[in-house]
Amino acid sequence: MFPYSSLLALCLAAATLVAAGPCDIYASGGTPCVAAHSTTRALYDAFSGSLYQVQRDSDSATTDIRPLSAGGVANAASQDSFCSGTTCLISIIYDQSGRGNHLTKAPPGGAASGTDPNGFDNLAAADAAPVTLNGQRAYGVFVAPGTGYRNNRPNGIATGDAAEGMYAVMDGTHFNGGCCFDYGNAETNSLDTGNGHMEAIYFGTGTGFGTGAGSGPWVLADLENGLFTSPNTSGVNPNNPTITSRFVTAVVKGQPGNQWAVRGGNGASGSLSTFYSGVRPNNGYNPMKKEGAIILGIGGDNSNWSQGTFYEGVMTTGYPSDATENSVQSNIVNARYAATGLVSGPGITVGSHVSLRATTSCCTTRYIAHTGATVNTQVVSASDSNALKLSASWNVVSGLANSACVSFESRDTPGSFIRHSNFQLRIDPNDNSKLFHEDATWCYRAGINGQGNTIRSFNYPAHYMRHFNALVYASANGGPNTFDTKTSFNDDVSFVVSTAFA
Ligand SMILES: *[C@@H]1O[C@H](CO)[C@@H](O)[C@H](O)[C@H]1NC(C)=O
Ligand SMILES: *[C@@H]1O[C@H](CO)[C@@H](O)[C@H](O)[C@H]1NC(C)=O
Repeated sequence: MFPYSSLLALCLAAATLVAAGPCDIYASGGTPCVAAHSTTRALYDAFSGSLYQVQRDSDSATTDIRPLSAGGVANAASQDSFCSGTTCLISIIYDQSGRGNHLTKAPPGGAASGTDPNGFDNLAAADAAPVTLNGQRAYGVFVAPGTGYRNNRPNGIATGDAAEGMYAVMDGTHFNGGCCFDYGNAETNSLDTGNGHMEAIYFGTGTGFGTGAGSGPWVLADLENGLFTSPNTSGVNPNNPTITSRFVTAVVKGQPGNQWAVRGGNGASGSLSTFYSGVRPNNGYNPMKKEGAIILGIGGDNSNWSQGTFYEGVMTTGYPSDATENSVQSNIVNARYAATGLVSGPGITVGSHVSLRATTSCCTTRYIAHTGATVNTQVVSASDSNALKLSASWNVVSGLANSACVSFESRDTPGSFIRHSNFQLRIDPNDNSKLFHEDATWCYRAGINGQGNTIRSFNYPAHYMRHFNALVYASANGGPNTFDTKTSFNDDVSFVVSTAFA
C-alpha cells in the first residue's frame, strides 16, 4: 500500500523543486553553493541583494544592479538609466552565497598582465551581451580577450583534493581557441603552480591536450597545464560533442578517490549528458592540489587570450549528484534564456550605401574615409571629386561575424572592409578568417551625444568607432591609449549616417 502522506511529501518535494533556484537545489542535494555569480538573475529563490555593480565612464560613479524581485531576473532597466548618455563596465560580480566571494577585475599573473596602470585586466562592457530570461531583458558578461575577473582571497572554496562541483551557463557561439575562457577554481597567486592546482570549466576550441569530437567548441576542464575531457593528455573523447547551441550549460566536478566528471547540455532545452566520468589524468592530478581562488574569463596564470560570454555559474562544496545537476539544468531551461537584438537606435540598413559624418564641433564636415589601408576622416562635400567621394562611401552588409550587426565594405575597394587591428581602423581584404570577420563586425546604437549612431566593435564591445586627430580607432572610454581619452569621447563616437556620397 502507498501511504497518502508519502504521496503528499513527494508532491511537496516536487513543487519545492520547481520553485527553487539553482543554489536551493544544490543545498537540498547536500552540496550547497559556496559561490554563486550571475549578472542575469538571482540563483536562490530568496535572493534579492545585489547581483553586480556597474561603473559609469563619464564620472566613475557606480551602482548595484539587483533582481526585479526576490529570486528574479536582473533589473536591466536600472542599468540602462544609470548608463544613459555614457558607457559602463561591469566592475563587480557579487557572490550570492553570502560568503563574500565577489569577482573583481583580475590582477596581473604569471602569463600576462593587463593594460591598466597596475597591470590589471579589463572589465567587461556592461551592455554587450543582452539576452532575455522569460522575456525580460538582462545582460551577460562579454569577455573580450584581455578581460578577466578573479577572487584570490576566497572563503569556503574547495582546496587540496576536497570535493566540489560547478556549473556555468555560457554563450555557445562566442569562443576562440585562446587560453583560457574559464570559470572555476584556480591558484591564489595568479601563477601557474603546477598540475592539479586548478579545477575549472573551460569553453572554447583550445587544442593541444585532449579535445572533444569535431572541431569544437567544447566543454573541457582546465586542471592546470592541460585542458582535459578524459584522463588522456591528447586525442579525442568521442563522447564530448562540439557545442552548436546558442546557450550551453557546462559542468565540472571532482572528489577524493580519483573521481571527476565533465558534463554539458543545451542551456535552453533538454537535459545534461555526461561527457566523461572516471579517473583523473596521471601526472600530478591525483590527489588534486586545488587552491580555491575563483577565476572568470582567464587562465589560472591570468592567460588573457580567450573570449566568451558568461551568464551565471556557481561552485559548490561537496560532489553534486548527477540528479542534483539534472534538476539545476531543468531550472536553467525554465529560466528561458533567449538571444535578443544587438543593435538599437536609428537603423543602418543592410544593402544601403552610407557615408558617416563626425559630429564633434571641430569636425562636422569630416567623414570616415580611407587612404590606402588607413581609415581616416576627410573633409568631403558634394562638389569634390568622385574618387574622394567614393573613398568616404561604404556598402552596408550583414555583419561578417554576426548577422545581427553590420560590416562596412569600401565602395572603391570591393571585398575590403573596415576592421580594427591593434585598435586602429583599416580596410583590409576579407581573408574569411574568424578573426577578420569579428574584427570587421560592428554593432550600433543611438549616438551617445544624441546625434546619429554610436558604433561598437562586435568582438571588443567596450571599444567604439572614434575619430581622433583625423584617424579612426576602436576606442575604450578612458582606456590606456591617447586615443582613449575621455575628453570629447561622446562626440567623437557619434556619427551621422547618411546616403553615400558616391
Ligand atoms: C594580454 O597580456 C599581454 C602580455 O602581458 C599584454 O601585452 C596584452 O596587452 C594583454 N591583452 C589585453 C587585450 O589586455
Ligand atoms: C583515450 O585514448 C584512447 C587511446 O587513444 C582512446 O581509445 C579512448 O577513446 C580515449 N578515451 C577518451 C575518453 O577520450
